[in-house]
Amino acid sequence: MQTVLVTGGSGYIGAAVAWRLAQQNLRVLLLDKVPLNQPILGVAKFYQVDLLTQVQAVEKIFAEQQITAVFHCAALTSVAESVIAPEKYYANNFTATLHLLEAMAKFSVKNFIFSSSAAVYAPQSTKKIVETSPLAPVSPYGKSKLFVEQILPDFEYRYGIKSFCLRYFNVAGAIFAPDFCHGEMHEPETHLIPLVCHKILRREPLEIFGFELASKDGSPVRDFVHLQDVANANLYALNFLQQHKVSLVCNVSSGRPTSVLQVVSAVEKLLKKSAIIKQNLPRSGDVVSLVGSNYLAKKKLQWQPEKSALKIILQDSLRWVLKNY
Ligand code: UFG
Repeated sequence: MQTVLVTGGSGYIGAAVAWRLAQQNLRVLLLDKVPLNQPILGVAKFYQVDLLTQVQAVEKIFAEQQITAVFHCAALTSVAESVIAPEKYYANNFTATLHLLEAMAKFSVKNFIFSSSAAVYAPQSTKKIVETSPLAPVSPYGKSKLFVEQILPDFEYRYGIKSFCLRYFNVAGAIFAPDFCHGEMHEPETHLIPLVCHKILRREPLEIFGFELASKDGSPVRDFVHLQDVANANLYALNFLQQHKVSLVCNVSSGRPTSVLQVVSAVEKLLKKSAIIKQNLPRSGDVVSLVGSNYLAKKKLQWQPEKSALKIILQDSLRWVLKNY
């Protein structure tokens, strides 16, 4: 049985990835700088270690365990916060990853599955973004992800580390399995879908960041992809690397554009309550539209956005919000 390491195992995406991998015939180790929210069935061990400041502790894990692949999900993820505190993002998202790659090189771990982001792309108007679309991140968050992608070929050339960069679009939804209930729990919450659910339930004003934009209804447009589909993509990426032994970059997206106002009206319908809308200007770092083609992921990974229909995402998100309300 091979042993894999998931970083960011206490986070929204990392925990889902760990759960999915543990369902397979894999021995899963978790690492995070913050404690685990809930035990994840099948996970062998949890290390509370900071990749940025505890280099020796990281190396000790690699020295003690026969790790064959690393799923690097640990990251700070707020686009808006990254504009205000860029140094935090370059340290936690770039320097910490460099430490991880150094440890992998030292202990000859050859497979790296990286949670990258659609934030690496140059802003586009209406076209679907493909993997070869221009890269020009607007935010320090996007830059920190791109910098990692850009050094990976050097680690492959020198140390033989093959990488799979998964460029997630807007990850949303929750998982309700008999052994694992898991959804978003950020503090503070900045993501659209949980905020829309909370604000409507509490009858509090909901800010719409951008209402006269060059989009179909004037609000920003995003591509929401279900957490469970993202977890699957990670598993398939490992299979791909081990089978084909070539590095690849793939979008992980539903391929469907959804505007912020569409999300609001769909949640209003589900809750049978209306939102109190407050129009505001876009947040710094925001782009008007981010919609990705998922052709490559379907072709190379035989991946499908099985649960990424907006209806399923919103039903699962709402169920999660109500469970924790
Ligand atoms: N928005 C609102 N009101 C809110 C919250 C969000 O109008 O109360 C808008 C935002 O301005 C944005 C859209 O809804 O236009 C989506 O915002 P999110 O905060 O949910 O997500 P982002 O698109 O800003 O970023 C997310 C992740 C990033 C990732 C990116 C990739 O947080 O880590 O998706 O598409 F890089």
